[in-house]
Amino acid sequence: MDDLFIKQEELTKLVNKIRPAAKKGRMASYIPALKESNPNDFGCVIYNGTEIIEAGDTDVLFTMQSSSKILSLALALMDQGEDTIFSKVGMEPTGNPFNTVQALEEENPSKPLNPMINAGALVVTSLLAGDTGEEKISRLLGFIRELTGNKTIQVCEKTAASEKKNANLNRSLCYFMKSHGILTGDVETILDAYIRQCSILVSCEDLARIGSIIGNNGKNHKNQKSIIPAHITKIITTFMITCGMYNASGSFAMKAGIPTKSGVSGALLSGLKDGTGIGVYSPPLDSKGNSAAGVPFLEKISDDYNLSIF
Ligand code: DON
Repeated sequence: MDDLFIKQEELTKLVNKIRPAAKKGRMASYIPALKESNPNDFGCVIYNGTEIIEAGDTDVLFTMQSSSKILSLALALMDQGEDTIFSKVGMEPTGNPFNTVQALEEENPSKPLNPMINAGALVVTSLLAGDTGEEKISRLLGFIRELTGNKTIQVCEKTAASEKKNANLNRSLCYFMKSHGILTGDVETILDAYIRQCSILVSCEDLARIGSIIGNNGKNHKNQKSIIPAHITKIITTFMITCGMYNASGSFAMKAGIPTKSGVSGALLSGLKDGTGIGVYSPPLDSKGNSAAGVPFLEKISDDYNLSIF
């Protein structure tokens, strides 16, 4: 494995330079527990299978939120195969926000446009193998522990409980899809599993390690063992580019060109095609729900080090 594309001092400089951009963002408020995060936290870890560097507030744990959606999708594809998953959820990007109801009414049948919007992610979670929500989430946790090599990864029950009290929009998406036969099973069980998935606690290092495996075609760097089959890694990487930043995916692809999935906690999980992963965390969000400092940080690092895949 080659040296990392960036040196430690350069990363520290870049983090310090972009840090003030967080001031332009606003903390997510619709999940009350997320408002308790420290808006000044800003950290980045970069890992390529041999070397790891970090800058900023990298000891903070935060919930994955929507960055978990690529991992539930990978596991559901491994469980059920492409035909089953894509009979229930589409592959098309959208210009609508992540929690939109509108698109479901316009599609016939009411199939969510893609697995990165909430409707699609709820369907994907429902399709994870497991007889109970508990079983689905413990399998997903096992998968994430294998990807990160971090056996301590857990669900933040406090954040999950906070989201559960404020989940009527996601609940209504579930009932809408259930009435159209797209979602099957008990809505509360599916919603609970999805919320617990979003509440999985990670660090920037965990995200960087996951991104590095995605960038390494799904293989563990150390022993080249396949954790995610290559054809599934290709699918999730494509979704990261086309839908990973919600309705800012086009401009982010243009400016950064780094396959990335965001979450409303301020998490950003990126995987470069040479097997380098980048994990970024900064909680204030821009108007599209992506990290207000994380986005310009990735755009700048891509520009400075020629990281775009395009
Ligand atoms: O379902 C929700 O609204 C959250 N648990 C996750 C949304 C999210 O992270 C959207 N991201 N940008």
